[in-house]
This record gives sequence, C-alpha cells and structure tokens, in this order.
Amino acid sequence: MRQSQTAMQVLENLQASDAVALELAHGNSDLIKALKIAGIAGPYKVVDPWQLEDEKGEIRINAGGYSAVPLGDRYPDLIDFVIRYLRDGSSMGLPQQSASEWRAELEYRLIEKLTKFAPSHADSQVFFSNSGSEAIESAIKFTTNYRPRASYFINFSKAYHGKTTGALNLTPNPDYQQQLLRPALDVVTLPYGDSKAFTQEVNRLGADKIAGVIFEPIQGEAGVIIPPAEFLRHVDETCKRHGILTIADEIQTGLGRSGYWFASIEWGGMDPDIIALAKPLGGGLTATGATIARNDIFKKMLGGLKAKHQSNTFGGNSLAMAIGLKSLDIIEDEKLIERAQRLGKIGARRLRAIADLAPGLITDTRAFGMLFAAQFAPITPTRNIIYGPQKLNSEFTGLLALMMWHKAGVLANFSLNAHRSIRLTPALTMPDEMFTQMFDRLETAALQHKTSWRMLTNTPKKTVLKLANFALFN
Ligand SMILES: Cc1ncc(COP(=O)(O)O)c(C=O)c1O
Repeated sequence: MRQSQTAMQVLENLQASDAVALELAHGNSDLIKALKIAGIAGPYKVVDPWQLEDEKGEIRINAGGYSAVPLGDRYPDLIDFVIRYLRDGSSMGLPQQSASEWRAELEYRLIEKLTKFAPSHADSQVFFSNSGSEAIESAIKFTTNYRPRASYFINFSKAYHGKTTGALNLTPNPDYQQQLLRPALDVVTLPYGDSKAFTQEVNRLGADKIAGVIFEPIQGEAGVIIPPAEFLRHVDETCKRHGILTIADEIQTGLGRSGYWFASIEWGGMDPDIIALAKPLGGGLTATGATIARNDIFKKMLGGLKAKHQSNTFGGNSLAMAIGLKSLDIIEDEKLIERAQRLGKIGARRLRAIADLAPGLITDTRAFGMLFAAQFAPITPTRNIIYGPQKLNSEFTGLLALMMWHKAGVLANFSLNAHRSIRLTPALTMPDEMFTQMFDRLETAALQHKTSWRMLTNTPKKTVLKLANFALFN
C-alpha cells in the first residue's frame, strides 16, 4: 500500500502519476477519468506565469483557468508580496469580529473604483465570501430581503451563475438542475438580448412581483455571448422605472477580463444595484467572492442587530484580502485593462482568421476583451449516427477540440453551458510574443484538422473507444 506524503514532501517532490491515481480513488474520479482518457488530466508544473509542463516534459501555453487567473501562475510581484505578507504582516488570520486593515482597504478600493464609473455607488457596501456562487447567494438574499413581496427573479437563457442551491436556481441548464434542484425561487428565464420579450414579461408578471433581474454583461459559460448594449440599457431603465433590482454578475467579466473594470457599467451603460465579483479577485492564488450592494439594500439586511444575518467564517480573511488588494494594484499599475482591450482586438482578429481557414472545423468565433470563444462544428452532422443524441455529440466535439488544442500546445477551457464552444482566457499579463505564438499554434492545428470529423479520425481509435465507453456506460 502506498504511504501518504506530508505537505512538505508534496512540495519538494511532485509525483505526477500518483496524483491522478489518488484522485481516481478519492476525488471526483469520473471527471479525472475522462480527462485522463483524453490525455489532459495533468498535473502540470508551473514553468512561468503563462506556461505549464506536463509529466512528459511537454510545455504548453496556458489559456485555461476559467478567468480566475488574471496575472498568470506564480506571478513574481504577487508571490513576493505574499511571502512578505506571511512573514511581516501585522494582522493575519480570520478577524471576523474586529476591523481589519486589509478588509477595510479592499472594501474602500472596490467602492472607489466602482464610484469612478457609477457615482451613485459612493456609499455602497461590500460583503465578502469565498466563491462566485456564494457571491450570488448573498445577492439573492439582499434582493429577496429588499423586496419581500416580489417573488420572481428574471434570468436569461444560457446564463451561468453557479451551482450552490440558490445560484443553481438561476443557472437555467436542465443538465445541472435535473435531479439536483430543489426550487427555492420563482424564476422566469428569458432569451438574452431581446428587449421586447423583456418588456412583455415585466408587463405580464407585473413589476411589483419581480424582485430582481440577474445577468452576466457578457455570458462566459455560454461561450462568450455578447448582447446588444442597448438591451442592457433597456433592462436597466425598465428596472429603475419600476424599482426592480438589477444584479450584475461580473464574476467572469469584472476587474479586467472584459477590458473593463465593470463591463455592465462602462460598456453596457448600466447602473446596477448589486454587483457580484469573484474569480480574478483571488489573484489566481485564493478564492474570494464579493457582493457589492447599494447602502439601503445592504443596511436593510445587515443593519443594526441584523448585522449577523449573513455571515461566513472565511469571507474577508486577511490573506485573501491582501491578495485581492495586491492583485488590483498590479492590474492598475501594469495597465492590464488597456492591455486586455488591445490584445483582445488582436486575438479576436486572429481567431476569426483561423476560423476562416477551416470553416468545417470552427463555425463561429466570439471575443470580448481577453475572453475568446471558438464554436466547433459538431463531429457528426446528424443527431443519430454513431454518437447518438445531440448533447453527447456536442460534449464529444468540445472534448475533442480541447484535446486538439492541447496537442497543439495550448490549454483551453470547456464551456459549461455551450459544450461546442471552447474558450481561451489567457492571463492579462501574457507577453505579446507568447500571445501571438498561442494563435500560431491554433492556426497550425486548424490547418491539420480542417473539419471536426478530422478531429475524430485523427484521434487514436483506442482513445475514442475508451471515451465512448466512458460516456455511454459510466
Ligand atoms: C458568471 C459566473 N457566475 C458565477 C460563477 C460561479 O462561480 P464559482 O465557480 O466560483 O462558484 C461563475 C463560474 O464560472 C461564472 O462564470
């Protein structure tokens, strides 16, 4: 039997094959099994902030990380700061019951930043948690508490707001909701970007019955879906007129990824009542969620002796706050927002050109800042041959595309609500030459696999059979 390792042994001696075996035994083994069959399970060693090395010594450009790695892995400036913080920081631990200079400074900084673009938020307040889903849970509570007589939430098709129970109510994906959802909210899901449908539904339900509208300014897990900016303004104006709360889920788009600090405000022209942040706020090192709410909304739930009505143990802990603050410094000092806009435009053009080289492989591309998506043609054109239903066909296509890009030397992201759309979310700090090289690699891959069918036929038969067996019989 294998001997367990101490933390120090793991630190000093990464045993790659062991990690996969242990995860298969004790973790989310089916996920690791699928990734292992696909040859993308890792684990990976950090080469530099933008590249990872697998156990065979192959080095890939990292455009994965699901928008949660804004600076890249082990970004020297952030790491140096964290080491100093751990050695010299005066306040550490979980100071929930007292003021903390780290928490206070991050609260101040977030509101200062927000107020620059949305002056009405000057006295807003921040509630910290430990993930995007939790930031959404707090947003739900603020909303229902503020409008107790309004039972409905409006969300939009293909949205992703997380998988904790409240957040799952607002993530309208039957695959995730089936079996696992205990409806806790009355939710009406509308097509995204359709102003007329929105107005009609507000009139049909009655504005007094609607507590809040939740939206991602650009939908990430839907495969980078960009609504018309007029739609966002229409939602904002309609909600303002009727007192319905607007909740901007900026968990993926916020703090730079979209090329804006707050895409809903700066690009969408909105002034949302509640804003949820997470992913990049953890600097790629830790997990921090934040829910920013207007003062009256915040105070109604947490005012006076009600201050304890929403709490958690780890939210706002000093280490997470210090990392968040330093990450904001780096985003600002290194002008990463401007960089995301500039590189975003170049990347969008490159991806479009790659799709044009292989229209039978990539049928559409979408990009917004440093959020890129390529939508792949289904591996089998009809629903029922070989791989059966459309969903399986779609999942297989996405997995094969991930494998193809992995082989080409680029790590990318699956999309939870759009399986055929594979996303690139490189660090905002990625050097220009590496950014160019990443698209060069994708171009070579596209020329080698001119159609999705080729992705399948270029995959070893053994792997395809294993994947099919896994999908159909596990
Ligand atoms: C827009 C959006 N909201 C919420 C979430 C949930 O965040 P978490 O996975 O940290 O719970 C995600 C995660 O991908 C997201 O993209």
